[in-house]
Amino acid sequence: MANDHLTLTETAKLLLHSKEYDLPAYTGSEGEVGLDITQLRSKTGAITFDSGYGNTGSCASAITFIDGEKGILRYRGYPIEELAKNSNFIEVSFLLIFGHLPSKTELERFHFNLTHHSLIHEEMKKFYEGFPSSAHPMGILSSMVSSLSAFYPEAGYNADVELNITRLIAKLKTIAAFSYKKSIGQPYVYPRNDLSYSGDLLHMMFAVPSENYEVPKVVEEALDLLLILHADHEQNCSTSTVRMVGSSEANLFASISAGICALWGPLHGGANQQVIEMLEKIKADGSDYKKYISMAKDKESKFKLMGFGHRVYKNFDPRAQILKASADKVLSQLGVKDPLLDIARNLEEVALKDPFFIERKLYPNVDFYSGIIYRAIGIPTNMFTVMFALGRLPGWIAHWKEMRETPGARIYRPRQIYTGETKRSFIQLEKR
Ligand code: CMC
Repeated sequence: MANDHLTLTETAKLLLHSKEYDLPAYTGSEGEVGLDITQLRSKTGAITFDSGYGNTGSCASAITFIDGEKGILRYRGYPIEELAKNSNFIEVSFLLIFGHLPSKTELERFHFNLTHHSLIHEEMKKFYEGFPSSAHPMGILSSMVSSLSAFYPEAGYNADVELNITRLIAKLKTIAAFSYKKSIGQPYVYPRNDLSYSGDLLHMMFAVPSENYEVPKVVEEALDLLLILHADHEQNCSTSTVRMVGSSEANLFASISAGICALWGPLHGGANQQVIEMLEKIKADGSDYKKYISMAKDKESKFKLMGFGHRVYKNFDPRAQILKASADKVLSQLGVKDPLLDIARNLEEVALKDPFFIERKLYPNVDFYSGIIYRAIGIPTNMFTVMFALGRLPGWIAHWKEMRETPGARIYRPRQIYTGETKRSFIQLEKR
C-alpha cells in the first residue's frame, strides 16, 4: 500500500446524507495531518472538490518540507539557508535524489559520472538546425529532453534508472548551452570535465573559439546558488506534472520533458522572465512604480505584480530573502549598477506596506530577485526559465524516483464534478 509508511494517528468523522463515515487521519513527520479519502467514493458515492489542489495531498514524500506560514524550506531535513551557505549544486542534487549527504567518495563518483556523460549524441545537433533562431529555448529544451528517449531506447520505465539519471543531469546543461549558442548563431562549445557543473554551463554558454574565456568565480558561485535554491519545492505544478506523467510508467526523459513544459508558464517558472520584462516596462514608463502597484490592485487591469505571491508561502519566501541579499552582493562584486534593482526594491517596499498585499499575504517570491542576478551575470532574459529548469531537475528526478519506488503507487487519475448537459438526443443536421 502507498500509505504503509504513514502513521495513522486518529480518525475523522464525516456526516453525509445523515450517515456517519470514518476517515483515517495520517500525520507526517512534521505534524502535518492528512485525511485519507481513498475509500471515500466507494463508501459514500461522493468525491472531494478542490480546484487547484490547494488542499489535496497527492502523495506522501520524504524529499522536501515547506512550512509556508513560517517561511521554512528544507531539503531532506536540511534548512535551505544552510545548504545555500555551505553546499554546492551537485551535492544538493545527490542529497535530493539519494536521500543523504554524499560521502567524499560518493560525491567524487557522482561528479565523475556527470562529467563523463555530458556530451550529447552528435546526431542530436541536427535537431537544433531545424528550429528557427527565434524559438524559445524552453521549447527546445523540452523537445531535446524528450528526444533523449530516442537515443537511449533502453531507457524505459524499468531501465537502469541511475544511469539515466546521470545522463539526464549531465546532458541538460549541454542541451541548454547549445540552444543558447544556436539562438545567437555562434558555434557550439563542448563540455569540459575539469569544471564544476555551473562553471561548465557558463563556459559552454559564453566561451568563443577566438578567445580564452575563464568563468569568473563570482558568476559561477552566483549561478550555483540560484540552482540550489531552485532544486526542489515539493508538489508544485511542474513536479506534480512529472509525477502525473511518470505515474503512467512513462520513462524518465518523457516525464521530465513534460515537467519542463509545465515550468514554462508565467505563473510558474516563466515568472522570472516576466519579472524582468515588467521591470523594464516600468523603467521605460519613467520608473513610475506606484502606477503599477495601483494597476496590480485593480482587477479590471488584469495586471499582476510578477514575482509576487505564492500558493504556499504566506509570510515570506526564504529563497527570495537569500536572493535579495545575494543580488546586492553579486552586483557590487561585479560593479554592475542596475536601475531595475532599484525599481524592484521600491515595488517591494511599497507593496509590503499596502493593505491589498498585506491582506492577501503577497510577498516577493523566488523569481522576484533571481532575474536581476541572471541579468548581472550575463544570462539573456529568454534563458532565465531554462536556468530554473536546470536547477529544478534534481527535484523532478527525486520525485519521479520516489514515486517509482513507492509500493502500491497508482496511476494519477483525478475525478471531476460534471456540470455539462444531462442526456439528450442527437439532432440531425438539417433539423438544427
Ligand atoms: N499581483 C496582484 N495580485 C495578486 C498577485 C500578484 N502577483 N498574486 C495573487 N494576487 C491576488 C489574487 O488576485 C487574489 O486576489 P482576490 O483574493 O482578491 O481574488 C489573491 O491575491 C490570491 O491569489 P491567487 O491567484 O488565488 O493565489 P494562487 O495561490 O492561486 O496563485 C500565484 C499563486 C503564484 C500563481 C500568484 O500569486 C501569481 O500569479 N503570482 C505572479 C506570478 C509569479 O510570480 N509566479 C511565480 C511563483 S514562485 C515560483 C514558482 O515556484 O513557480
